[in-house]
Amino acid sequence: MSETILWKHLNELGQIGRETDGSITRFPFTHEDFLAEKKIWQYMEEAALQVFRDAAGNLIGKWEGSAPDEPPVLCGSHYDTVRNGGMFDGTLGLLAGIEAVRLLRQEGFQPRRTILIVGFKDEEGNRFGFGMIGSKSICGMVSAKDLSAKDQNGISLSDAMIQSGLYPEKLKTCILSPIHCMLELHIEQGKVLEENGCSIGIVSGIAGLIRYTITICGTSGHSGATPMHGRKDPVVLMSQWIMHVTKLAASHKNCVATIGSIHTFPGECNIICDHVTFTLDLRSTDEPYLYTVLNEMKQFETENNMTVHYQLEQKLPAALCDENLCQKAEDICKKNHFPFIPCVSGAGHDAMNFRNHCPIGMVFVPSRNGYSHRKEEYTSPEDCQKGMLVLKELLKLESC
Ligand code: GLV
Ligand code: MN
Ligand code: MN
Repeated sequence: MSETILWKHLNELGQIGRETDGSITRFPFTHEDFLAEKKIWQYMEEAALQVFRDAAGNLIGKWEGSAPDEPPVLCGSHYDTVRNGGMFDGTLGLLAGIEAVRLLRQEGFQPRRTILIVGFKDEEGNRFGFGMIGSKSICGMVSAKDLSAKDQNGISLSDAMIQSGLYPEKLKTCILSPIHCMLELHIEQGKVLEENGCSIGIVSGIAGLIRYTITICGTSGHSGATPMHGRKDPVVLMSQWIMHVTKLAASHKNCVATIGSIHTFPGECNIICDHVTFTLDLRSTDEPYLYTVLNEMKQFETENNMTVHYQLEQKLPAALCDENLCQKAEDICKKNHFPFIPCVSGAGHDAMNFRNHCPIGMVFVPSRNGYSHRKEEYTSPEDCQKGMLVLKELLKLESC
């Protein structure tokens, strides 16, 4: 297959924020983010989209339909990355939307409903502790507390926005309503498609998630002079806590628990710590099970005499995809002889914020070895193109 425009764009955008080890770090409201915006803006204009940036920094490319008063079809994904991430997560869905529009124009298609291709701002949330700022703004879900969240350097989300020429005080102007449907193509970030030899995953639902910063307190002291017996070392308590929460997650077929960041205080080799903080990212498509885990953890803490504080960082209810859109995606795959499989998404996506606003349609393409959120993330050009073609046909069906 000769190089497609989609593949060329993926590789060009993948140079922005590229680290010396080959990974990509493209955090929101940074110079890299600004460079990425410029590139995407250019791609959108080349596809003859009318481009604008909303008050939250979402990049929106508009293809006005012949019935502009009808609710628009939204399609897109995010263009930020996690720290040391890869070049497909998010960007594929956005660039595929732009490419789909270019091809539809080439075919002479004219939409009846307006199509909005959206590059969502800050989905990953590595900078401010919670993500999906762009899609939450469009759905009117960003709170004043969210805006006051600070990054590692003490810069608030609100100040970071202002420094990027955005308008946190005008976030309400980002709201889009009513919306006909929201479509998102994404890499799978797991192994189901690869293991089943499928190019397309038709997503039936997205797992709910809860994220906390957790503090466990202990009793500080001299590492040499304090006998082992009778210590209340928070690092040891944390280890027991982590073993227990991961055991509870593993005992359910659809639940995962991850501790991604740990800090000890004061954090010196010869001091028993005073307290530890760490992150918990707990997810399940069976949402009530998240609360079962949390309740069992409270019981475990009481039984083991632990002092534990929970600071809630993010809570996202599970989201079901629209059955009708799933059926349409299936029909498109059958017609094009693309091997497909139904699946669920363990990862969070911008589309899930639209669950109470409009039908959601999500399509996955395979991730080699299931790798994601790391530099080895890879999807073949053929699979990227197939995913884009399914998205294109869905856009056509939904906008006519
Ligand atoms: C985003 O990739 C998330 O699921 O955390
Ligand atoms: Mn991601
Ligand atoms: Mn993503």
